[in-house]
Amino acid sequence: MTDYSGIDEKIREIDITCPPPEQEPERQYYFIRLLQDWSREQTERKGRPLQACVKTFGCQMNARDSEKLSGILKCIGYEITEKEEADLTLYNTCTVRENANQKVYGHLGQAKKYKEKNPDMLTMLCGCMMQEPEEIAYIEKSFRNVDIIFGTHNIFKFAELMAMKVLDEKSRDKMVVAVWEDTTEIVEELPNRRKYFFKSGINIMFGCNNFCSYCIVPYVRGRERSREPEDILAEIRCMVQDGVVEVMLLGQNVNSYGKNLDNSLSFAQLLQRVEEIPGLERIRFMTSHPKDLSDELIQVMKESRKICHQLHLPLQSGSSRLLKKMNRRYTKEDYLLLVEKLRAEIPDIAITTDIIVGFPGETEEDFAETMDVVEKVKYDSAFTFIYSKRTGTPAASMEEQIPEPVVKERFQRLLARIQEIGAEKARASLGQTEQVLVEEVNRQDASLVTGRTGGNYLVHFPGDASLIGQIVPVRLRESKGFYYLGERV
Ligand code: 5AD
Ligand code: SF4
Repeated sequence: MTDYSGIDEKIREIDITCPPPEQEPERQYYFIRLLQDWSREQTERKGRPLQACVKTFGCQMNARDSEKLSGILKCIGYEITEKEEADLTLYNTCTVRENANQKVYGHLGQAKKYKEKNPDMLTMLCGCMMQEPEEIAYIEKSFRNVDIIFGTHNIFKFAELMAMKVLDEKSRDKMVVAVWEDTTEIVEELPNRRKYFFKSGINIMFGCNNFCSYCIVPYVRGRERSREPEDILAEIRCMVQDGVVEVMLLGQNVNSYGKNLDNSLSFAQLLQRVEEIPGLERIRFMTSHPKDLSDELIQVMKESRKICHQLHLPLQSGSSRLLKKMNRRYTKEDYLLLVEKLRAEIPDIAITTDIIVGFPGETEEDFAETMDVVEKVKYDSAFTFIYSKRTGTPAASMEEQIPEPVVKERFQRLLARIQEIGAEKARASLGQTEQVLVEEVNRQDASLVTGRTGGNYLVHFPGDASLIGQIVPVRLRESKGFYYLGERV
């Protein structure tokens, strides 16, 4: 499924008897056309359709990138599968914490075995981890089964790189490695394939300029750059024509949207324009940096009929001393005031967060400040992370790295309290009727369907596949920890 109308046709119209065009995206359309002919031959030779698997690690940004990569693969002629033992497997990697890298290596080891069985198999790597030269060096040495490596900045070049690998004699037996250090380029109008027909993420900006001292994202995703509002709105209009009722606007720091554009809209103004799109029912966005969340945005959320009353507002730490070391540019008091303001204006807002435990120098007092914020804010849910040292970030060379047993004990205490509070909050909503967007038939019990409320809570209730993609009123009957059981009203 493509989100932009007419892309397939534009690809068909490309003349492959000429040399490849210089401009994008036509250049990529050209390589897609060449690969379509190649995949047709392969399919005939094998006597079955070619299958491709795009395995995603990490955040919503990566999930959206994977939809774009799957769209290109589908256009080339592959069937998309969830099984990694396919004709082509592409790992879209994350490197935000060390364990993300370890996971990728586990999968690559497995991919080696698949290739022994099917020597034609193509194994590819892309995403944030590929922006780290040490990781590439290790892969070149230890995983010769990898065919193509590319990074976060040249993802739009995927078709060209693949054509180089499979059509160019010189590259056929080599590992193709193409990683750019940075880019200012944003290429629009490439094919993509949404995971759900009724909802979609949409990039409004790329990169991050914040340089929180623990975080590797600004180094691997590059400087912040926003898409033009008209491109964003056109893409959403197309999605809506194609059945989408909910969009999630994506950026590392959506509140600073538009800063690099001339005469652009603020993020709040962009939301107002998105709201005007007929047929679109729900709008979400992430992530909001607390330092940039404006009063204008709060008012727009309050007055909107479509923006969900849900906000992901990463705290990271409740200690002002540590927040300074983290380069977060707000204090505990600023954060609490912001939450107070949000709740005063939008009383039913669901607030979620990210918290890091064990940042260098974290004392028991610092940790108590984090627990204090958790008590005061009463998050609907929270992602909790053990601090992971990322080479090249300022925090990696800070003294006083915290011993593992201390961190683990704090982490468990935090997690237990977050779960208790989440369960209390969930119980308090029992009996209420919520608008639920139905996503799928329940995987454990096929008599139920699963959907999400505006506040992003999961609800299971009796229903069938015909409800998928619809927004229906559901009464919350029973709370089961991280989901509700409900009934249609
Ligand atoms: N260690 C642990 N957690 C981290 N995050 C980012 N970098 C690190 C790190 N080095 C967390 C932050 C961020 C989320 C996406 O990942 O909480 O908000
Ligand atoms: Fe990382 Fe901070 Fe940017 Fe988020 S805002 S991506 S935590 S540097």
